[in-house]
Amino acid sequence: MNRTVEKGKTLIVDGPASVTLTSGKAEVFGALLRNASRVVIREGKRLPFAVEETAVFDMSLGENAAAEESDGSTVPASWVKSYEELTSLQTKPITAIVLGAVDSGKTSFCTYLINRLLHEKRKVAILDGDLGQSDIGPPCTLAYAFVAKPVTDLFDLKEKDAFFIGTTSPSGHTDKVVEGLTTLKKEILSNEPDVVLIDTDGWVEGEDAANYKIQLTGKLEPDIIFWIQQKDELTPILSAFGECKNVLVDSPSTIGQRNREKRRNLRELGYVKYLRNSKVQSLPLNWLKIEGDELFGLGKMHENVRQARKIYELLGMKPLHFAELPDRVCIVIGRRRWIEPENIKKVEEFSKKRVMLIRKGNEEGLLIALYNSKRQFLGIGVLQEIDFTRKYLKISTPVADDIAIVNMGKVKLDKNLKEVSVLTDENHP
Ligand SMILES: Nc1ncnc2c1ncn2[C@@H]1O[C@H](COP(=O)(O)OP(=O)(O)O)[C@@H](O)[C@H]1O
Ligand SMILES: [Mg+2]
Repeated sequence: MNRTVEKGKTLIVDGPASVTLTSGKAEVFGALLRNASRVVIREGKRLPFAVEETAVFDMSLGENAAAEESDGSTVPASWVKSYEELTSLQTKPITAIVLGAVDSGKTSFCTYLINRLLHEKRKVAILDGDLGQSDIGPPCTLAYAFVAKPVTDLFDLKEKDAFFIGTTSPSGHTDKVVEGLTTLKKEILSNEPDVVLIDTDGWVEGEDAANYKIQLTGKLEPDIIFWIQQKDELTPILSAFGECKNVLVDSPSTIGQRNREKRRNLRELGYVKYLRNSKVQSLPLNWLKIEGDELFGLGKMHENVRQARKIYELLGMKPLHFAELPDRVCIVIGRRRWIEPENIKKVEEFSKKRVMLIRKGNEEGLLIALYNSKRQFLGIGVLQEIDFTRKYLKISTPVADDIAIVNMGKVKLDKNLKEVSVLTDENHP
């Protein structure tokens, strides 16, 4: 379907759609479109095509997609001003953090700044700190990329490195997120960028969120913080960030709001992208270092035989797997087995530790990250099975390199890569 749009107007397209500029001149977030190059708009995303010379677009719209015209540009004047504020800083590198609520336009704002900076031949790195809506790198990870050419969607960038967190929200895992972002920022700096842009998650409401953002900005030491707000929702926490330059930025009025469902769908596109062409592999447990394993205690199997025997006696059965950690006892039982709650209590009293009880089969679908022996991130995968008897992991992943470290996430995926409930400890539901 062809559509002609006059100079000075903006064509706003809601995905799933693809748009090709066939003649004229138009840009998306400051990226000038090349003729005949196709721009894909994912479902749940909206892109503005600002027309500079009367343009003809060849559009193909998917289900529930839409295209409408609006007068003028949808890029707020404060975005243009922000770019000037950023480039007026004389430091090298310049580190900028973008803060704002979910769907306030943070990622689009970063995209706009990137495109403008590239125009001036600056070496730009973008660090994606949003776990729930990872644009760069797999979902549930933090990642960064150096940008070589203008982009319309950060999802098109290939990550240079990533740091796996394994959850869709920083809440409850803030230390790990701060560690991840600091580590990745350090790595970026060793590549001598002119500008480092840090995009963040949308968790800004309430005291916990504010404290987390204070901790984060304290560690990342930005030269400038951009605050994207619709009204004045960020003003209460703004005063706590005195040290560096703070710039208030408008959230575009034409923003595409997404509900939880749409955000989950966008994440699932991420799982598909990073788990496509997966193959099943079996990895012997004694070859691997297991990280982030809070439920199984895989590193410690049957160390103290006498202790194990005593515990089996109290349980009244021999479980498939048993591991005693400094603060807890991990027990895995067969799908159809049953343990008296009384007996679990006895074990807790005897060991003076919490018992984590997992049913075999429940590990299936757990999101994992894979690293090589130098602890370089290789990609993500899905745990298919832990074979406790023969002591190996069955995983499904497109990663073909040698895997030395497996990091366990908290998200579980079903066979269609849809998120399902997380792995549960039956003894502490
Ligand atoms: N200036 C704008 N004009 C039209 N659509 C926009 C604009 N800014 C953002 N959007 C769209 O609004 C949605 C939310 O913006 P996004 O940048 O992803 O927000 P955040 O990163 O804060 O969650 C996206 O689909 C984005 O493409
Ligand atoms: Mg975003």
